[in-house]
Amino acid sequence: MTGKFITFEGGEGTGKSTQARLLASHLEQSGMNVLLTREPGGAPGAEDIRDLLVKGEPDRWSPMAEALLFNAARVEHWRQCIEPALKKDTHVVCDRFADSTMAYQGYVGGLTRESMAQLHRLALGEARPDLTLVFDMPATAGLARAAGRKDAENRFERKGADFHARLRQAFLDIARREPQRCVVIDASRAMDQVHSEVLHAVHSRLGI
Ligand code: TYD
Repeated sequence: MTGKFITFEGGEGTGKSTQARLLASHLEQSGMNVLLTREPGGAPGAEDIRDLLVKGEPDRWSPMAEALLFNAARVEHWRQCIEPALKKDTHVVCDRFADSTMAYQGYVGGLTRESMAQLHRLALGEARPDLTLVFDMPATAGLARAAGRKDAENRFERKGADFHARLRQAFLDIARREPQRCVVIDASRAMDQVHSEVLHAVHSRLGI
């Protein structure tokens, strides 16, 4: 692999998607090849699975069924888009990836870390991001931001305050366990400050 694989993770309304876009444009303007993508989705079959996951009633799926669907979508996304791009010297910026499954379905959904790790190995082998930026802010503030969006893709946003508070701790624990891969970003600050911190993390960790 020659391109770098950078993932953005965190709770709802933390501004990851905006910051992923800003990073992708910055790298592009610096003359690099970049693919900006997101999960669930990012490949045709994966977008079909996305609809099953983000719409409908909050308790529509059990955590294990969700974990399997997210991994099914991820296999397609990885094989069809991410891996080919990395092999062609393109950096990949991805809005959510496997840590979201570990946090949402594992930690908060009540499935063990080991079962989530096993599923990941089965689906993707040893594939993992070169750098993961974990966007952190109080869950209530993030949910208030996310509630401003008027779309039907709000199945997870509707899961309640306790779910989201536990989610924040889950992402922080994931980052604590893998400090060489993860950087926690204080997402409660202004957009341009967060962007500078993202650029700093990418430069210092990956040299790009
Ligand atoms: P999305 O609209 O992309 O959310 P956001 O803008 O907050 O990133 O919807 C994706 C939802 O799916 C989000 O609520 C998190 C959830 N999710 C999981 O539960 N597990 C996963 O593995 C992934 C990738 C997402």
